[in-house]
Amino acid sequence: MATNDENGNPATCAVDIMDYDENGLYFLTAKGKSFYKRLKTNGYLSLTGIKGEKTLSCISVSVRGEVKEIEAERLSGLLCKNSYMFEIYPTEQSRRALTVFCLFRGFGEWFDLSRKPIERFSFAFGGEKTNSGGYYITDKCNGCGKCLSVCPQNCIDIAGKATIRQENCLHCGNCEKVCPIQTIDRR
Ligand SMILES: Cc1cc2nc3c(=O)[nH]c(=O)nc-3n(C[C@H](O)[C@H](O)[C@H](O)COP(=O)(O)O)c2cc1C
Ligand code: SF4
Ligand code: SF4
Repeated sequence: MATNDENGNPATCAVDIMDYDENGLYFLTAKGKSFYKRLKTNGYLSLTGIKGEKTLSCISVSVRGEVKEIEAERLSGLLCKNSYMFEIYPTEQSRRALTVFCLFRGFGEWFDLSRKPIERFSFAFGGEKTNSGGYYITDKCNGCGKCLSVCPQNCIDIAGKATIRQENCLHCGNCEKVCPIQTIDRR
C-alpha cells in the first residue's frame, strides 16, 4: 500500500487485506505506526496486489481511494478470520493497539499478464466513477490499418473503421503516434 508522508512523498508498506464486503475492503494496523499517522492525515491510499509466480503468469489488482477508521467492533471479526494475528499480537492487552480501516470509495483495475493478448478491466466502488482512460479511435478513421501494424497486442479491429478492444490494450500509445490523420484520442 502507498500513502503520502508529511512531505507529500510516497511511502509504501506491506499490509494484508483481511476482509471485504459490499462496503469495501478492510485491513488493520496499530495506532502507534507511522502508517496509521499517514492514513489519518491523508485519508487516501493506493495499493497493488499480485498473484502468480512469474511475471507472465501473474494477475494484479490495483485500487486507490478513500479510507476511514471504523468502529472497534469490526476488529474481533477480522482477527478471527485472520487468526495468525494472535501470534503477532498474543495478548489482549497488546491487541489494544489495533484498529480497523475500510477502503470505502475508489476505483481500480485488474491486469492479467497470463493471457495473450493481455486482459485488463477497470472498476469503481462506493459511488466513484470508473476511470475508463485509454486510447479511443474517432469516426474520422479511414481504415488505413497503420495503427494495427504497430500494435504489440493486435487489439485493433478494422471493419471500415478501426476500433480498439479496450480490454486487451496496453496503453502503449504506438497507434496514436502513427495515425496519419491524428484520429486517436488519449482519454
Ligand atoms: C507479509 C506482511 C504483511 C503485513 N501486514 C500488515 C498489516 O496487515 N497491517 C500492518 O499494520 N502492518 C503489516 N505489516 C507490517 C508493515 O508492513 C510494517 O509495519 C510497515 O512497514 C510499517 O510502516 P511504518 O513504519 O511506515 O508505519 C506486514 C508485513 C508483512 C511482511
Ligand atoms: S495503445 Fe498500444 S496496445 Fe493499445 S491499441 Fe494502441 S498500439 Fe495497441
Ligand atoms: S492509423 Fe488512424 S486512420 Fe488508419 S486505421 Fe488507424 S486510426 Fe484509422
